[in-house]
Amino acid sequence: MRNHEPKTAEYLVRKTAPYYHTVKGAAYLGDALQLLETVRDETIDLIVTSPPFALVFQKRYKLAPDFVDAQHYLDWFMPIAREFHRVLKKDGSLVLHLGGSWNPAYPTKSLYNFEVLTELCKNDYFSLAQDFYWFNPAKMPSPIEWTNVRRIRVKDAVEPIWWLSKDSKGRTKARNTRVLIEYTKSMLKLLERGSYSSGQRPSGYNISRAGFLHKNRGAIPPNLVPYPNMLPFSNTESNGAYLSNCKKYDMVHPARFPIMVPEFFIRFLTTRKSQVVLDAFAGSNSTGYAAEKLGRKWLAFEKSEEYLKGSMFRFFGPREVEKMWSKDRVRSGA
Ligand SMILES: C[S@@+](CC[C@H](N)C(=O)[O-])C[C@H]1O[C@@H](n2cnc3c(N)ncnc32)[C@H](O)[C@@H]1O
Repeated sequence: MRNHEPKTAEYLVRKTAPYYHTVKGAAYLGDALQLLETVRDETIDLIVTSPPFALVFQKRYKLAPDFVDAQHYLDWFMPIAREFHRVLKKDGSLVLHLGGSWNPAYPTKSLYNFEVLTELCKNDYFSLAQDFYWFNPAKMPSPIEWTNVRRIRVKDAVEPIWWLSKDSKGRTKARNTRVLIEYTKSMLKLLERGSYSSGQRPSGYNISRAGFLHKNRGAIPPNLVPYPNMLPFSNTESNGAYLSNCKKYDMVHPARFPIMVPEFFIRFLTTRKSQVVLDAFAGSNSTGYAAEKLGRKWLAFEKSEEYLKGSMFRFFGPREVEKMWSKDRVRSGA
């Protein structure tokens, strides 16, 4: 049976042709909710996605597909979340990046993303398996009025990423040995010495003499991504080819994940190559790209044709992409 398993994830989407596909996955042009409705029940292992935040100013995206204001965010997002829940396998995970938003006119932040989290976890619908933080020091200080002019706020450099399990008891696929980080020099010394001051810590935590002294291939990573010293595990390239080609056509996506972010979660939360990763707000399709490089099947949905066209540079050479565009070999599906 397994030998006949299709290599791409296209078979999971009913009656809709992909815009483009690769060896492992397929990208679809269209609205996330409508496309999700075409996905078969309980077929997805992992969703890694970054929906549009509650935007105070629409100008953030060149082709701003939709402006979702903070007050109406729940109404917009919950039907999509219900589809996420339906398509996920019982032991599947939703990794949701919802960046923070400042309230207009005041130096205070909106709670909309925490409201989304609370709503998702109400009545054990989803459960918060763990909260992660995307460390993004390259972000510009903002809102300028509070950071640069009046100097009463500092630069936001972390954004929450919530790992939610469909199973209310958190029984979901995960393996931290696939995302180990290098030991620090002091930890290596300790491991070599082979002794540890055991006993009770002021916190009340009881440390056994050798409890932490088992040397593995690396140390357990913290919940900060991307984390320096991540053990080299992939042959994923950087954004280089994507960026240089998209710049030529002025179609660079302004809010991309660094590849390390989806790569970390795919490594951590999927165990086998046959498993399927979905991003319903794919943008430049960094999630699909990380999945492809890690040999996982993937599905990507994106509403903007320009972003989807640009994302093709992640998978194909520039000549091939240009040929696909000009010969109209790209199939428009939604
Ligand atoms: C924050 S970006 C995602 C960026 C992506 N993680 C990456 O690394 O490139 C959100 C994306 O959602 C898309 N989008 C907005 N509304 C959508 C909808 N209703 N259906 C599908 N995509 C949508 C936007 O065009 C945008 O590219």
